[in-house]
Amino acid sequence: NRSQPLVGMRALVTGGPTHEPIDPVRFLANRSSGRQSYAIAAALAEAGAAVTLVSGPVALSPPAGVERIGVTTAVEMLAACEAALPVDIAICAAAVGDWRPLHVDAMKIKKVAGKTMSIELAENPDILASLSRHPQSRPRLVVGFAAETGDPLREAMAKLERKGCDWIVANDVSPNQGVFGGLNNTVTLLRRDRPPEAWPTAEKTSVAKRLVAEIALDLVGEDF
Ligand code: C5P
Repeated sequence: NRSQPLVGMRALVTGGPTHEPIDPVRFLANRSSGRQSYAIAAALAEAGAAVTLVSGPVALSPPAGVERIGVTTAVEMLAACEAALPVDIAICAAAVGDWRPLHVDAMKIKKVAGKTMSIELAENPDILASLSRHPQSRPRLVVGFAAETGDPLREAMAKLERKGCDWIVANDVSPNQGVFGGLNNTVTLLRRDRPPEAWPTAEKTSVAKRLVAEIALDLVGEDF
């Protein structure tokens, strides 16, 4: 089916930030809006895939025909992704917190006048790497994102190797680019053994559709 090339396939998408609790009223988070991941989940569903969207806290409604599983922390996000396996396609677009507070206080931490305060952080699990190297259920295609502020292409190349995924969508999230929370995105698609493809700046919904078209072409050889 040309308009629905992904019928019969299962897709997993991660999106949004994670919130890592410090105490009952505070958490560590980041500026991800979830927009790009929600657009990808919607485009995959339109292409006929059965989509599970594992989402951190965002202010967006789930796209039509997508099963959304809401999570808060990176540890919860990994568990929800594991539970969604097996899938054919995994797209990790979440801005997962790299760290979580090592101890979560049961009571609100009190300030002490004139004193500095520090929070010890533990490393979070890497969901993209876990799915890419999954011993039993490695998806056929695993796509990661690389949000960089330095040299996006170089960083993304290294990430492809380090994480073991198949493709990386690299985007420049320098503050002047307005990617976080914005409607547009400027990305470069990196694939093993293929030259990088720099796509023109476009709405996140268009980037999502083009990415899904590339996925369909790769997995079922259909131009759609
Ligand atoms: O290492 P970095 O966070 O820059 O890598 C970004 C990519 O890795 C994104 O696809 C993101 O969703 C994924 N990631 C993840 N789990 C983490 C950190 C990043 O899935 N703990």
